[in-house]
Amino acid sequence: MSMVIKELADLDPSERHKGIRDLIEKVDAMGEVAHIDGADWNLEVGALVEMVCHESREGKAPALLFDNIKGYPKGFRIFSGATNSSRRLAYALGFEEPDGPMDVVRAYRDRMHGDFKLIPPKVVNGGDLMENIDRDDDVDLTKFPAPFLHEKDGGRYIGTDVIVTTRDPDSDWVNSATYRVMMHDEKTCGIWMSPGKHGRLIREKYFARGEPCPVTISLGHDPLLFMAANHEIDYGTDEFAYAGGHRGRPYEVVNSELHGLPMPADAEIVLEGEMYGDELKSEGPFGEFMGYYASDASDEPVIKIRRVYHRNNPILCVASPAKPPTSVTFGRTIVKGAMIWDEVEKAGVPGVKGVWCHEAGASRLWNVIAIEQMYPGHAKQAAMMAANCHAGNYAGRWVIVVDDDIDPTNMFDVAWAMSTRCDPPNDIDYIHNAWSTPLDPLLTGPPYQNNRAIVDACKPWGRKDSFPETTETSPEFKAKMRKKYPALFG
Ligand SMILES: Cc1cc2nc3c(=O)[nH]c(=O)nc-3n(C[C@H](O)[C@H](O)[C@H](O)COP(=O)(O)O)c2cc1C
Repeated sequence: MSMVIKELADLDPSERHKGIRDLIEKVDAMGEVAHIDGADWNLEVGALVEMVCHESREGKAPALLFDNIKGYPKGFRIFSGATNSSRRLAYALGFEEPDGPMDVVRAYRDRMHGDFKLIPPKVVNGGDLMENIDRDDDVDLTKFPAPFLHEKDGGRYIGTDVIVTTRDPDSDWVNSATYRVMMHDEKTCGIWMSPGKHGRLIREKYFARGEPCPVTISLGHDPLLFMAANHEIDYGTDEFAYAGGHRGRPYEVVNSELHGLPMPADAEIVLEGEMYGDELKSEGPFGEFMGYYASDASDEPVIKIRRVYHRNNPILCVASPAKPPTSVTFGRTIVKGAMIWDEVEKAGVPGVKGVWCHEAGASRLWNVIAIEQMYPGHAKQAAMMAANCHAGNYAGRWVIVVDDDIDPTNMFDVAWAMSTRCDPPNDIDYIHNAWSTPLDPLLTGPPYQNNRAIVDACKPWGRKDSFPETTETSPEFKAKMRKKYPALFG
C-alpha cells in the first residue's frame, strides 16, 4: 500500500490527478474509499458521512462514494472526505507517503517556506464541465441529489464542499471561498457568509451600488481547490492561483457565459447567477462546524441561478459540518497547522517545532504550538502570534504553547504539560473582542466578537534548565526492552 502513494507522489506535476474523478480513482486504488449503493439523500447520506468519522477517528475514516442514490439515475454520485486522511491529503498535495500527520504538516510548511509561488489559472475554450449546459427556463437544481444532512436543518444543502467565486468590482481580484448554499427551489438558492469573509466584503460593494453580485458556485472539483477555498488565504489573493501553486501547474478554467467568472474546466457541476441584496429569504438553520445550531434561520440574499454546467454522470462533493470530527476536520487540522506555523515564522518568531489545531476544536478553537524556548518572552510571543495571524484568528478560543518535548498532536501530552507546567493565574492571558462568528454557541448577538485564552504551558523561562526532570525511561533503554520482550509490545 505504501508503495502506491510513493510512486504517485513521484509523478511529474503534469501527470498528477486532474479533477475529483481522477483523484477518486487514485485514492480508491490505495484502499481509501468505501462505496455505498442505494442510500437516500434524505438524512442517510448525512448520517453515514458523520458516523464513519465519529466511529473511526483521527483521519482513519475512508472517503465515501455514493451511487444509485434514491430517486436519482445511476451515475449521479456524491463524494465526501477526499483529503481527510494523512495519506489522501499527502497524495493530493504531491507529498511522499507520510509516517504520521505531523509529516504532512511539516511538508506543507516547508513548501510554503521554500519556493512556493502562486500559479495563476489558464483560460481555455472548453472542458468536460461543458458537456451539459442548462439555461434559464431549463435550470432545475433538483436534478442533483442535494442531501438533507441533519434532522434539524432548514433544507437541502446543495453546496457544502463548495467553491463560491466572485470578482471584486474595484479590481481584477477573483475570490473563491466555501460558504454553505441551501436550495430554495429549482432555480434559487440561499447562501450564508460570516461577517468579515472576503466574499461577503466583495458582495457588499455590489449591494452598496444597488447592483446584484455575480457569482459561480462549483459543486464538484479538485480537493486542492476546495482546500484553498476554505482556508484563510490573504485578502486579494486568487485561490485558483494558490491551489495552482500547490498543484505545480495552472488550473485550466472556462469563463462562465454570463459573467465571465472562471470555472474549473474539469469541474463536475457549476452554477451561475447573481446574489440579490434586495431579495431575501429564510436560510438555515444548519448544523455547523462547532457542533451546534448556534444561529437560527435568518433572511439572506437570494441567488438566482441562470446557468447550470455539468459533466455527464456528475459527482456532487459533500462536506457535512457537525459536532467534530467530521469529513473535513482532519485534513483541515493539518493544513491549518502548517499555515499558522508558516505565518508565525514569517512574522519573525524562531524556534517553532510544530503546530496542531486539534479536531476537537473543529480545527480552529484548540490550537497548540510547540517551541524550543530561546529567550524570555518567546513562548508568549509565539502563542500571541498563533492566535492573531490570519490563518489562526477567525473563531479561535484556546492557544496553548508547549515546549518541544511535547508532541502537539498528542492531547494527553498537552494536557500533561498544562497540568504540570502552567500556573493558571500567571500563565493564562486573555484576548478580548476578537474576530468570531454567529456560529459560536457562546455568542448571543452582534457584533459576534469572542474572547480567548493564551495558555503558556512551557517550563517557566527562568527555571527552564533547573525544572524537575521528567520521569520516563530513556528511549535507548525502551528500545532495548522492546527487543528483549517483543511479545509484550507486539
Ligand atoms: C465545509 C466548510 C463549510 C464552510 N461554510 C462556511 C459558511 O457557510 N460561511 C462562511 O462564512 N464560512 C464557511 N466556511 C469557512 C470559510 O470557507 C473560510 O473561512 C474561508 O477562508 C473563507 O474564504 P474567504 O477568506 O475568501 O472569505 C466553511 C468552511 C468549511 C471547511
